[in-house]
Amino acid sequence: METVNKLLGSIKDVGRDGVRGGYSRAVYTTPELDLREWFKEQATQRGLDVETDRNGIIWAWWGEPQDGALVTGSHLDSVPGGGAFDGPLGVASALAAVDILKDRGLQPRRSLAVTVFPEEEGSRFGVACLGSRLLTGAIDVDKALNLRDVNGDTFADVARSNGLDPQHVGPDPEAMARIGDFVELHVEQGKGLGQDGPAIAVGSSILGHGRWKISVSGQGNHAGTTLMADRADPMVAAAQIVLAVRDTAARQPDARATVGRLTPVPGGTNVIASRVDLWLDARHPDDAVTAHLIEAIYATAREVAAAEGCTASLTEESYSGTVHFDSELSRRIGGLLPGAPVLATGAGHDAGVLAGYVPSAMLFVRNPSGISHSPEEYVADEDASSGTVALADVLAGLL
Ligand code: GLV
Ligand code: MN
Ligand code: MN
Ligand code: MN
Repeated sequence: METVNKLLGSIKDVGRDGVRGGYSRAVYTTPELDLREWFKEQATQRGLDVETDRNGIIWAWWGEPQDGALVTGSHLDSVPGGGAFDGPLGVASALAAVDILKDRGLQPRRSLAVTVFPEEEGSRFGVACLGSRLLTGAIDVDKALNLRDVNGDTFADVARSNGLDPQHVGPDPEAMARIGDFVELHVEQGKGLGQDGPAIAVGSSILGHGRWKISVSGQGNHAGTTLMADRADPMVAAAQIVLAVRDTAARQPDARATVGRLTPVPGGTNVIASRVDLWLDARHPDDAVTAHLIEAIYATAREVAAAEGCTASLTEESYSGTVHFDSELSRRIGGLLPGAPVLATGAGHDAGVLAGYVPSAMLFVRNPSGISHSPEEYVADEDASSGTVALADVLAGLL
């Protein structure tokens, strides 16, 4: 029987990012592939039967694969320079929870699967929860296959070189039928669980969120010979757009909007860029408010771009409306974890995608500073252990 902390300790050196700090484990790169192998070994050691489905989701079965099974799991990919817990905590807790249940001598009435979803973060192909979106049919298959990473490699090519058949990527009704209930344990990513209160919460909802790309085009030119008055510099417009994103969201209660990635093309110190691409992440509980926010940001983007002699265009890359987890499943889980608070989150999860199709729920484990998507993300060993026991109690109650 291995504790969650021992399991997490065994992967603490995989994908460390010496430049950004933290971990960079983009889907289907060496660190994520190493973690997938680690997961398969751990599952096999526990006597679980491992299979990888047509979308690259790994399923480790305790009991025969069957319709209506209980499924739990999370992801092993990370954002660039992410923390140690976002994803792996849910996977390691699930493995450790199986140990606890076996140790208790539990005789499950239905099968349990532990799953690992690929590309939850969308760090490589731009669309978060790509594995669960493909599984459920929440994303158009052609759109998914044509997504490109920063090297220009398509998801179709990368999927193929990782043993998937692009012809068979996409909605998988048989796999979906196997999910009777889905429970994902995850590190809390805000300050929802205080230092002195309970360490574990039951999830209630996920904030509506989406990603948009804004491209600002101008005139690429020489930094030394082009007079300031003669420029059409998209970087200057992009800087104003970043401020507009902050200011527009700040005026809207409950909105969050972020430009976390900005790429000048071609990107040389002595080169006025010909184009700047920036990616906008915007979130709000109300779809209509988000749509309005994006419209307002785009109107300002066009205006500031024109004032700099540039043009701006906007493309929606993904959007997911606010999700409320299954009330009956969450009520049952609440009954199994007396005293656990109920918490909404602003972060996206595969459980949020699945919730549109099958009863889904989440558990959150305290992260005292609330910092996440950063090397400083933190879960105390005691809280990781409590989370695992809570997950084991929940699984036992639902099995
Ligand atoms: C994923 O973690 C997200 O919320 O962006
Ligand atoms: Mn996550
Ligand atoms: Mn994340
Ligand atoms: Mn997430």
